[in-house]
Amino acid sequence: MFLNKTVIITGGGSGLGLALARQYHKNFNVCLIGRTETKLKQAVKTFTKTDKKVTYKVCDVTNEEQVLNVLQSIFTNEQVHLLINNAGTGIFQPLESLSEKDIKCMIETNIYGTIYPTRAALQLFKKQGYGKVMNIISTAGLRGKVNESVYCASKFAVRGFTESLVKEWEGSGIYPTAVYMGGMDTPFWDESDHIKDRSRLKSPEMVAELIYEKDDNRGEIFIDR
Ligand SMILES: NC(=O)c1ccc[n+]([C@@H]2O[C@H](COP(=O)([O-])OP(=O)(O)OC[C@H]3O[C@@H](n4cnc5c(N)ncnc54)[C@H](OP(=O)(O)O)[C@@H]3O)[C@@H](O)[C@H]2O)c1
Repeated sequence: MFLNKTVIITGGGSGLGLALARQYHKNFNVCLIGRTETKLKQAVKTFTKTDKKVTYKVCDVTNEEQVLNVLQSIFTNEQVHLLINNAGTGIFQPLESLSEKDIKCMIETNIYGTIYPTRAALQLFKKQGYGKVMNIISTAGLRGKVNESVYCASKFAVRGFTESLVKEWEGSGIYPTAVYMGGMDTPFWDESDHIKDRSRLKSPEMVAELIYEKDDNRGEIFIDR
């Protein structure tokens, strides 16, 4: 049923993206996307060898031209089942402490970095006649939080984007899904003291398993509300 179909995962070199790649690799070829080649290469080495392939592509999801070229090259050689827009970043401070660079980084990575791969995949999915897009959001896309104003703004944007596509693509054979989860213990928090006790967070492996189980073309997946 899943013969030689591929799942593309942005931000697949670490954290939730890598955990999702391991889940989907049970039935699919997986292609990890990220900016850091050493990290992607290292991640690929950690997979168990099966008849399903694990590959990677270096790509900055905020650069539309790069995204288009990389996705086109994948679609030329593979049947793509699902694009997971997982790459994301968060800088957690009071609004007045954020620099222009911090704000741009969150807006560009989380919003453009979801819209560009989705747009590129859409035209290629249309040629294939089917496809799925899963957008990794956060409970920060459901409600505002202290010191998360711009991060929440970026995640609310992806929620609006995904909810609109659920309506826009109805009946097209292309299925968008928004995923909302709470905190996970990943490298996301390495440079931050926003979370005081990381041991209270869920593991990305546990969250990835729940997402994989619930992935049935529904428009929304809630891991935490
Ligand atoms: N951790 C949490 O508590 C939590 C909770 C809810 C939602 N989320 C969301 O979950 C997603 C995954 O985060 P994570 O927790 O797994 O953190 P992570 O380990 O830091 O993963 C983020 C990944 O995105 C990649 N990335 C960042 N900017 C990129 C760009 N411009 N182009 C391509 N790749 C880029 C990073 O690799 P490179 O730097 O090498 O490119 C990294 O592998 C994010 O969307 C995050 O907002 C996280």
